[in-house]
Amino acid sequence: MQLLDGKKVSEDIKVEIAAEVAQMRANGEKVPHLAAVIVGNDGASLTYVGSKVKACERVGFESTLVKMPSTTSEVELLKKIKQLNEDDNIDGFIVQLPLPPQIDTQKVLMAIDPTKDVDGFHPENFGKMALDMSTFIPATPFGILELLERYGVETQGKHTVVIGRSHIVGRPMSILMGRKGFPGNSTVTLTHSYTKNIAQITTQADIVISALGVPNYLKAEMVKDDAVIIDVGITRVMDETSEKGYVITGDVDFENVSKKASFITPVPGGVGPMTIAMLLKNTLLARERRRDNE
Ligand code: GUN
Repeated sequence: MQLLDGKKVSEDIKVEIAAEVAQMRANGEKVPHLAAVIVGNDGASLTYVGSKVKACERVGFESTLVKMPSTTSEVELLKKIKQLNEDDNIDGFIVQLPLPPQIDTQKVLMAIDPTKDVDGFHPENFGKMALDMSTFIPATPFGILELLERYGVETQGKHTVVIGRSHIVGRPMSILMGRKGFPGNSTVTLTHSYTKNIAQITTQADIVISALGVPNYLKAEMVKDDAVIIDVGITRVMDETSEKGYVITGDVDFENVSKKASFITPVPGGVGPMTIAMLLKNTLLARERRRDNE
């Protein structure tokens, strides 16, 4: 079994990005600037956004954190998005999800200028992704592709089973693994809450990508020998013995599944840090595209 070490690979990517940013600075060019908007006080979301902003500082980007109260109206958020769209200083921005119930998420995502949509959630960018056009690929799926590529994991002709059809991970992942090229050229099965006999399907999989959010869902008897296991789950599970009072737990019963797997991502230290690294990569790309249009 080989660990797909997202912590290490994400560090490598950040070093590569930092070198490019240093070169931009040395050339007297503007450096990438990412803004992150967070609405409300959800602890996990605040932690993720904090990590994204901290990562910007590490690679030499400029960053702006926009915190809005949980009572923010849709109109107020759309106004903030308009400001960010029009601010020439900002190269890319994200609106952290989920949003409070009074705000229509689709309306918000559609209001973001596609050229600044470094999450790749705007329908224009999502459509381009599905059509193999140059775009921003959503950071978590992009991070998984990068891990598979850097470890040389074969995907061509393999059966990839994706668990979960979220717009952020499962759905785009299912499209990307079936695309022409590497990583891709897989035969993809997208499973979800209405799928019958899911274990019968996962035991046929060469590659399982679980993005369900149910701790320890994927058991050893649900996977075949030498399968590649990608765990996207990051659920906080209460644990009074830990310092924070909770532990981050993946979808995969790592202890037992890892004994059968050929490659497996740990949680934490697998997909999570890759998501942040690829958001930085998209932001760098956004800056380069704006520079080339200036
Ligand atoms: N919530 C969970 N993952 C993500 C992500 O990748 N981007 C945004 N904007 N919100 C999220």
